[in-house]
Amino acid sequence: MTLQDIPQFQADALAAVAAAKTPDDVEGVRIKFLGRNGSLTALMKGLRDVPPADKPAFGQALNALRAAFTEALEARKEAVAGEGAAHEAFDFSMPGNWRGAGSLHPLTLVTEEVTRIFAQMGFTVADGPDIETEFNNFDALNTAKHHPSRDERDTFWLGPELLLRTQTSPVQIRTMLARKPPVRIINPGRCYRRDTTDATHSANFHQIEGLFVDVKPVSLADLKSTLAHFAREMMGPQIQVRFRPHFFPFTEPSVEVDFSCHVCKGKGCAVCKQSGWIEILGAGIVDTRVFRHVGYDPECYGYAFGMGVERIAMIKYGVTDLRHLYTNDLRYLRSFA
Ligand code: PHE
Repeated sequence: MTLQDIPQFQADALAAVAAAKTPDDVEGVRIKFLGRNGSLTALMKGLRDVPPADKPAFGQALNALRAAFTEALEARKEAVAGEGAAHEAFDFSMPGNWRGAGSLHPLTLVTEEVTRIFAQMGFTVADGPDIETEFNNFDALNTAKHHPSRDERDTFWLGPELLLRTQTSPVQIRTMLARKPPVRIINPGRCYRRDTTDATHSANFHQIEGLFVDVKPVSLADLKSTLAHFAREMMGPQIQVRFRPHFFPFTEPSVEVDFSCHVCKGKGCAVCKQSGWIEILGAGIVDTRVFRHVGYDPECYGYAFGMGVERIAMIKYGVTDLRHLYTNDLRYLRSFA
């Protein structure tokens, strides 16, 4: 090789670089010229044998050639980065891997459905903490000082006057302490009782509370028509509602509310234990003593109701053991999607 041959060599080398289309091609060109047996490497080794008089010029020309080549190589490497290999790793024509959509938990589904139905009737969602005062959970709700529900065997006490709420009813108190009537709230939340877990009990469960208070008369008939509308929206258009007298410390009169069985349409089946009716809610007319506790005019009128979310989920979806709702077995939970 003579000095005159170098421009041609350079042109060939740069053409090879320009022809490289992928990072692998670029690496191949580098090895071809600058690898251990590369032609440019050989050329530089050959400098030894050049006559001393020509060495400076030849050396300079080779250095310039090498610089031009490596510069072109680096530029090309950047230009084709992500080509070739990347195409192999991500083939847009391949079918995707479907990872499946999540679904809502049955307790969430019931809570959202109940909330939606009452929201349509003008109820707004209220909220309260899981840790409550004895006043909000018991005293203000007119629960007698020695009522058995206050017992340590029923309630998780956290201190002399602090507890894990046993019901969502303290949210009634919080709401009335904070607002003047009219009040129309629905409140879903977690509750706690010292119950031993079995097919129908859990120490940790969910309730949905409703409260309606107005300065104008509100009657048991208003409560019944509201709950009848709820029953039909929730369980089906043919559902009937019946009231049975009951006792709650904070309502007077108090009722338990049954829905006609949605499975047998009231004829009697295993789900309703042959009675044709299923117990769904507790409810009643707000006791005037509760109004006094929150500083409301005792001449106010109101009704309240409460229901168990687990119980409704079990009835609506035919869940036979409440524990299925908590084991979080995806095969089971996916069936509600
Ligand atoms: N809090 C009551 C319970 O846990 C249910 C209820 C709520 C009853 C509102 C009447 C009015 O049993």
